[in-house]
Amino acid sequence: MTLDLFSDIDAAEREEIIALRKELEEANYKYYVLNMPTLSDRAFDEKMRRLQDLEKAHPELADKNSPTQHVGSDLAVSSKQSAVSGKGFEQVVHRYPMLSLANSYSLEEIQDWLRKLPSDVEIVCELKFDGLSISLWYENGLLTKAVTRGDGQKGDNVIENIRTIEAIPQRLEGVPAHFEMRGEVLLPWSNFERLNKEREEQEEPLFANPRNAASGTLKLLDSQEVKRRGLTCYLYYMLGEELPGETHFERLETARKWGFPISDAVKVCKSLDEVNAYISYWDTERKNLPVATDGIVLKVNNLRQQEELGYTAKTPRWAIAYKFPAERQLTRLKQITYQVGRTGVITPVANLEPIQLSGTVVQRATLHNEDFIRSLDLREGDMVWVEKGGEIIPKITGKGEGAKGERLEAKGKQVPFSFITTCPECGTPLVRVEGEAAWRCPNESGCKPQIVGKIEHFVSRKAMNIDGLGAETIELFYANGLLHTIADIYDLRKDDIALLERLGDKSAENILAGIEASKQVPWSRVLFALGIRMVGETTAKKIAKRFASIDALKAASKEELMGIDDVGEQIAENIVAYLQDERNLEIIRRLGEAGVQLKGENGAWKVESDKLAGKTIVISGTFAQHSRDEYKDMIEVHGGKNSGSVSKKTSFILAGENMGPEKRKKAEELGVPLMSEEEFLDLLF
Ligand code: IVH
Repeated sequence: MTLDLFSDIDAAEREEIIALRKELEEANYKYYVLNMPTLSDRAFDEKMRRLQDLEKAHPELADKNSPTQHVGSDLAVSSKQSAVSGKGFEQVVHRYPMLSLANSYSLEEIQDWLRKLPSDVEIVCELKFDGLSISLWYENGLLTKAVTRGDGQKGDNVIENIRTIEAIPQRLEGVPAHFEMRGEVLLPWSNFERLNKEREEQEEPLFANPRNAASGTLKLLDSQEVKRRGLTCYLYYMLGEELPGETHFERLETARKWGFPISDAVKVCKSLDEVNAYISYWDTERKNLPVATDGIVLKVNNLRQQEELGYTAKTPRWAIAYKFPAERQLTRLKQITYQVGRTGVITPVANLEPIQLSGTVVQRATLHNEDFIRSLDLREGDMVWVEKGGEIIPKITGKGEGAKGERLEAKGKQVPFSFITTCPECGTPLVRVEGEAAWRCPNESGCKPQIVGKIEHFVSRKAMNIDGLGAETIELFYANGLLHTIADIYDLRKDDIALLERLGDKSAENILAGIEASKQVPWSRVLFALGIRMVGETTAKKIAKRFASIDALKAASKEELMGIDDVGEQIAENIVAYLQDERNLEIIRRLGEAGVQLKGENGAWKVESDKLAGKTIVISGTFAQHSRDEYKDMIEVHGGKNSGSVSKKTSFILAGENMGPEKRKKAEELGVPLMSEEEFLDLLF
C-alpha cells in the first residue's frame, strides 16, 4: 500500500518533469527565436526552479538535454528557425562559452549567496540590462566579429548590424592582440516607442518590449533598417588571454579608457549594506534610464577569486543576478467590451476595477484577440493580474487563483467567455480570416468606426494633412450625412459646413483651405492616405517609387509587388484586393477628378536602356557596391521587372552575399541561373 502510494507520487513527478521540460523548451523557443514571449520572466524562472528541484530529487531521470542543462538558443539558422525566417548569418563557435547568470527574485537568497563567499570579497554591482548579449571580437585592434549568444556554444555573426551602433569602437590602438568584449545590445525606450508606433500605423504586430525589438532588429538582414531603428550597447565583461588588471572593475575601467561604452552605474561594494543600498537606489532610479533594465548583477571583483569559485554547466558561481519584481496588481475584470478599428479589426478590451500601477491609474487593458482570452480562460468577474508591459502599456498576465486553483470571488457570476459573433457597432456578422488571430467586421462601407476611422486616417498629418478636420468634426459631418467616404471630402461646400452647429464661417474657410492644399500632397502620401491594410508610410513611399501612378499600380501583379522591399505576400494581396474592389475604384476615380495627385511628380520612369527588357529578376542577399534599392532602380530603368519570388518566369537571380536558402533551393529546383553583383554591373555598364 505504502509502496503503491510512493510510486504514484514518483509517476506524478516524472510526468511533471516531462511536462515542465516541454513547456520550458517551448517558452525558450518563443522567447529567443520568435521574439514573442508567452510566459512572464517570473513564471519562467519559477517553472525552471521547480524543474531543478524535481531533477535533484530524481537523479535517475537526469537528461543532458533538459532545459536546466543548457541556455536558451537564439540561433537564426537552427533547424527550427530556418523554417521560420529562412535567414542566414555566419555561425561562429564561441571561444569561451557564453553563459547565463543564476538569478533570484529574493533578496534573502542574494544575501545567502553573499554570506557564503570569502569574507574579504569585494562585489561589483552593475545594472542588469534587458537586451540581448553580444560578444565583440577584436583582432589587432580591429572589430572582426560580433557574435550573438546563440545556444551558448555557437552564435550568429551579426557584425554588419553591430557596425551601425556608433558607441561601439571599430578600430582601437594600444590594446591586446586578441580579446573579446561582451555586453548587451539594447533598443532605447524612445526608439522602441517610435518603432512600435510605426508598426501600429502599418498594422504590423507590435514588439512586446524593447528586448524583443532589439532581438528582432539584430536579426534583420538590412543594416540600413537596423541603423534607422537606432540600437545602443553597454559592455560589461572583458575576456581573453593576458589581459591587463587583476579585478573585474579594473578591466571595465580600462575598457572605458579604450573607448567602450561602460555604464556609469558600475560600483565596487565592500559590505552587505552597500550592496543593499545599491539595489534599493537602482530599484527606483532605473525608471529614469533611457534603456530597459530588469535587475542588478553582482560579481566577485577579484579575478583570482572568480577562478577559484568557478562555474556550473550554465552559470558562473562568481556572479548572481537579482531580478526586480515586475510591478503587478490583482484587480477585477469587470467587463469585456469590444473596439472596432478603421480596418474593421475587433479588439477585445478589459474594463478593470481601477488600480494604481507605476504611478498611474489603470482601468483598461487590451485583451488582444480571442485566442489570448481563451488561453487564459478569462471570464467577466475574474480577478486578474495586471502588469505594465515593458512598464508602459498595461497588460493582463494571468488570472488570480485561490489556493486550489478556484476562481477568486466567483460570486456565481462567471459564465464561460464567448467572443461576439456580430459587430458591436453595426451588427454585421464577423469574419475571421484563416491564419489571422483577429475577427473583422466586413461591413467596410457601412460601419461607423470604420468609415470615420478611414477618414481620420486620410486627413491625418502624415497623410493628406487637412487642418481643421479633427475626429469630432468628422463625426459631426458623418452624422449630418456630409461625409461617408474619403472622396466626399472634396465635395464639401462652404454653406454645408457653416450650417453645422459650432462651425462658423471662419472654420468652414479653414477646412476648405486645408482641403484645397491637400491636392498638392504627393502621390506617395496619397497612397498611404488611402488606408490599404498594412500599407504604412514607409511601404507606401517604396511602392510609389516603383509604381509611378495609380494606373501602373492597378496593373501590377502580386509577384511584381512582392519585388518591392518590405512588401510581403500579405501586403501584396491586400493591395491587389483593394484595387479590385469596385467601391474603391469609384472613390479613386472621384479623388482623381477632384485633382488629388494620383501619379508621381516625375510621371513615368526615366528609361536608360532596354538591356533588361522582358527580364524578370529576383534580388536576394546583401551587396557590396550598391544597396538593394539601387539595384531595384537599375533593373527598372533598364527595362527589367523586379519580382519578390522565384518562379518559372524568373529570368535570373541577382545574388549577393548570404542569399536566402529558400530562394537558393527554389532556383536550383527550377534551374534559374544566378548572377553575381559584378556580372550584373558588367552587363549594364
Ligand atoms: S555578466 C559570465 N553583467 O543577463 C557572466 N550579464 O541572465 C556573463 N546581462 O546573458 C554575464 N546585464 O545577457 C552580465 N551587467 C551585466 C548584465 C548581464 C545584462 C545579461 C546577459 C546575460 C544575462 C543572464
